[in-house]
Amino acid sequence: MNIGIIGCGAIGSTLAKAAEEMKEVHEVYLFDKSHVCSRVLEEKFSKVKSILNFDELLEKSDFIIEAASQEAVKLFGERILKAKLDILIMSIGALVDDSLRESLEKVALENKCRIFLPTGALCGVDGLSSAAVEGITEVTLITTKPPSALEDAAYIKEKGIDLKNIEEPTIVFEGNAKEAVKLFPRNVNVAATVSLAGIGFEKTNVKIIADPDTNQNHHKIIAKGKFGTMSAEMNNVPFERNPKTSKIAAQSAIAAMKKIIGTYWVGA
Ligand SMILES: NC(=O)c1ccc[n+]([C@@H]2O[C@H](COP(=O)([O-])OP(=O)(O)OC[C@H]3O[C@@H](n4cnc5c(N)ncnc54)[C@H](O)[C@@H]3O)[C@@H](O)[C@H]2O)c1
Repeated sequence: MNIGIIGCGAIGSTLAKAAEEMKEVHEVYLFDKSHVCSRVLEEKFSKVKSILNFDELLEKSDFIIEAASQEAVKLFGERILKAKLDILIMSIGALVDDSLRESLEKVALENKCRIFLPTGALCGVDGLSSAAVEGITEVTLITTKPPSALEDAAYIKEKGIDLKNIEEPTIVFEGNAKEAVKLFPRNVNVAATVSLAGIGFEKTNVKIIADPDTNQNHHKIIAKGKFGTMSAEMNNVPFERNPKTSKIAAQSAIAAMKKIIGTYWVGA
């Protein structure tokens, strides 16, 4: 199988290395708006080829992984599905946009393609999806981050929250996932994943906590329903190549790729 990867930053380059080592993978095509990084990887790995033209990526790939940006999902998502290729989307936050999500779903159905969304920085998405089949009544995502990881959010400035002088874990936001992703764009992927696996953006509760005593990103999913209750939490170290991304997010992209194109799918 030939894999196409859009974006060769922290996640894309890690994926390229993992794909290089998979016996199921014949060639890995890398497409990035910065051609420098795809060329560097081409020189490093024998299966990797840098692609400058997006149409060529479509022609040569059997399956495409987006590991670039929400903009890339908007620009290329439909074109990939219209070319009858399945896609794995890392920038899941793009799917907060109802019209984009609905049009991708429509094109995927028309072209008999699938859209894969990895668990990313979370655990427990498997249990949440099973719970959501029937009678789930409540889902809450609690995200705890160091204050520095939240200071860019315009909401923090508007509310006059002084993150530099916080001395204990402090709730900076409580609301639904729809509001959370608008106000905290850097939390958008996890909130989108929980919403799409569970009961949607409007019904998913999100709590964001600034904790001065941590340097990790902590995500906890709590759900209740006919199935019983669940609680799943993850303490994530930042990825050395891009501290905005958790290390486990890149690993989840590799695990998803292995499930999709490998022989075994453990935990389907
Ligand atoms: N699902 C999750 O839980 C999760 C977790 C972490 C990151 N992400 C998302 O995955 C994506 C990649 O993350 P990363 O840490 O590798 O980012 P990164 O900034 O390290 O790399 C992104 C690369 O994509 C390229 N790129 C961006 N837009 C492009 C476009 N329109 N066309 C072609 N190339 C483009 C950039 O040039 C860059 O090389 C981001 O959108 C990030 O938000 C998702």
